[in-house]
Amino acid sequence: MTPTSGAPRPPFARWLGTTNDITRTFLSAGRIPGLINMAGGLPEAATYPVAALAAIAREVVEAHPHDVLGYGPIEGLPELRDALARRFATPALALTRANVLVTTGGMQGLDLIGKALLDEGDLIAGQFPTYLGALDAWRPRAPRFRPMPLGKAGFDAVTALDGAKFAYTVPNFSNPTGRMVGLETRRALAEAAHRTGTWLVEDDPYGRLLYDGEPLPRVIELSAQARLGEPYDGPVVYMGTLSKEIAPGLRIGWVIAAPAMIEALTMAKQGSDMCTSGLTQRIALAALEAGLIEQIQPLVLDTYRARRDALCAAMDAHLRDWLDWEVPVGGMFVWATARDRALSTDLLLPHAMSAGVCVSPSSVFDAAGQDRSAIRINFTLNDPQRLQEGVRRLARAFETMQARRG
Ligand SMILES: Cc1ncc(COP(=O)(O)O)c(C=O)c1O
Repeated sequence: MTPTSGAPRPPFARWLGTTNDITRTFLSAGRIPGLINMAGGLPEAATYPVAALAAIAREVVEAHPHDVLGYGPIEGLPELRDALARRFATPALALTRANVLVTTGGMQGLDLIGKALLDEGDLIAGQFPTYLGALDAWRPRAPRFRPMPLGKAGFDAVTALDGAKFAYTVPNFSNPTGRMVGLETRRALAEAAHRTGTWLVEDDPYGRLLYDGEPLPRVIELSAQARLGEPYDGPVVYMGTLSKEIAPGLRIGWVIAAPAMIEALTMAKQGSDMCTSGLTQRIALAALEAGLIEQIQPLVLDTYRARRDALCAAMDAHLRDWLDWEVPVGGMFVWATARDRALSTDLLLPHAMSAGVCVSPSSVFDAAGQDRSAIRINFTLNDPQRLQEGVRRLARAFETMQARRG
C-alpha cells in the first residue's frame, strides 16, 4: 500500500460529533442474520400493494413519459398538488394548489423546515420525547430545543411556544410514545400558535393507523376555523407521507401550509433535490385516484392491530417486572418505561443485541441525549410469533443486565 500523503484534511462539520447513527443501524438491522428488529418504524412488506403498483408504474411511464423521465416543477406535479389539496380540504379548511408542496418523503419536509426557518441558536419547542429523524434533520443548524411535555396536566401552550421559531408535534400516535394528543391540547396548540406568532409543525405520518376509537381533528383544521372559506393562511405546517399508508420506497410526502411558507420551503427544496421523482409522483397520483390507500387500509389495520395485541400480551407475560407501558390506540410503537429508575436503557441495548433483539433506547429521542428511562418497541414489522420471541429475548437481556449489575 502506498502511504497517504499531503496535508491533513479539514475536519467534518461540528454537528457530526453531536449525533448518533442509530437510524442507520435500524435500517440495516434487517440484514443481520437471526436478529429480531423491533427498533425501527418499518411497515410489514406483505401489505405493499405490489401488483397494483406494478401495473400503475407501467401505465404512467407509457402515458406520461415527460413527467416521469424529465425534471419537474420544484413544488411538485400540479395535478398531484391539486389532488392533495382536495384530499385534505374540509368545510373549515379551504386549500388550493398554493397550499401544497410535494416532498421526497416526510423526512424532506422536516429537513426543509430546518433550512427555511432556523438560524444558529434558534429555539424549537419540541414535543418531548421527540422523533429522532426530526432531531437529525435540525441538528446541523445548531438550534436550541425546549422540550414540550404535551402529556402533562396543566400544560400551558402559550408559555411552551413563546419565543420559539417553531413548535413540533406528532399528535397522532406520536413517534416514539404512541400517544394521541387530546382535543383540548390540540385546540390550545392551534390557539397558542396564532397568539404567539410561532409556526407549528404538525407531523402526521401515522394518522390513518388508528386501531381503536375515533380520530381527532387535525391541528391545522382547528387553526383554520377562524378564517372560514379563505385558502389557509394560518401558522400550522401540516406534513404527511405515503410511507406508512402505501410504501416508504415511493418516497412521497407533502407539506400543507400558508402559501408564504410553501414558497419558502420551495426555495429550500431548490437547493436540496430540485424536484421529487416524477415517476413516484405520477404513481402516487394514480394510486390516490384509484383509492389504493382505502383498498389496502383494512388489511393494514387488521395486521397491525393483531400485532400490537400480540406484543402487549407477550410483554404482559414476560416484562412486567421490568417495564410499565400503555397500550397505544394507533401507530407503530409501544413506549415502555423502566420500573427501576436507576436502570439505564442505554446499557440494555448491548445485552439486547447479544440476545438477538434490537429496540430503541429513549436517549435518541432526547435532543440532549440524556433520557435513559424508556425504550421504544415497534410492533408492525414482525409477525406475532417473532414478536413473542423478541419479547422473550428482551426479558433475557434484562436478566443478564441485572446479573452484571450484581
Ligand atoms: C414522526 C415521523 N415523521 C416523519 C417520518 C418520515 O417518513 P418518510 O420520510 O418515510 O415519509 C417518520 C418516519 O418514520 C416519522 O416517524
